[in-house]
Amino acid sequence: MKGVVFTEFLEMVEDRFSAEMVDDIIEDSELPSGGAYTAVGTYPHSEMVSMVVALSQRSGMAVRDLLLAFGQHLFGRFAHGYPAFFKGQTHAFDFLAGIELVIHAEVLKLYPDAQLPRFTVEEHTQQRLILVYNSPRHFEDLAEGLMRGCMAHFGEHAEISRSVLYENGVQRERFVLTRTT
Ligand code: HEM
Repeated sequence: MKGVVFTEFLEMVEDRFSAEMVDDIIEDSELPSGGAYTAVGTYPHSEMVSMVVALSQRSGMAVRDLLLAFGQHLFGRFAHGYPAFFKGQTHAFDFLAGIELVIHAEVLKLYPDAQLPRFTVEEHTQQRLILVYNSPRHFEDLAEGLMRGCMAHFGEHAEISRSVLYENGVQRERFVLTRTT
């Protein structure tokens, strides 16, 4: 997982909790990297899982809620850090429908070693967007947080429901976004 995701995570922990919490969860997690991340480096995604679990234990917040909050925060940081991806984009569903073929395709040009999830679009209308997420890293909650962050960014509202799909031993997650305003 690219270092930018780790540095943004630790910044969020510092802002919402404290600098001591950052030190504590790095220590609790016994990270192979030691917690010294650079934005362009690449680190095991298991380090993110360890730190989120450590933060959950120390804060008493559920892992799912922490990943949702982190996804929302991360989307805001992406919007700030990659303005070119937002040129001409006016609707959340159109932006989300292009994650795979537009956004992450561009991310891969910037970071050829990025480990990105796969998204397939099953339905895309003004009212409803159905995305199927597939990643061996299983960051479904982070994906939902990013989707929520995207809706908020464009000032739109949707209900998000999720279901698990099993096919040929592969577990994927279907997200159904239904516009509410
Ligand atoms: C401007 C918008 C976006 C940018 C620049 C971006 C960029 C990235 C980058 C750099 C990573 C890390 C790759 C790695 O670890 O090697 C990543 C991972 C990820 N992205 Fe995006 N992304 C964007 C939007 C989104 C949106 C809207 C979603 C969800 C709908 C999404 C879903 C994910 C997920 C879930 C991961 C974690 C890796 C995994 O699940 O396997 N991204 N993205």
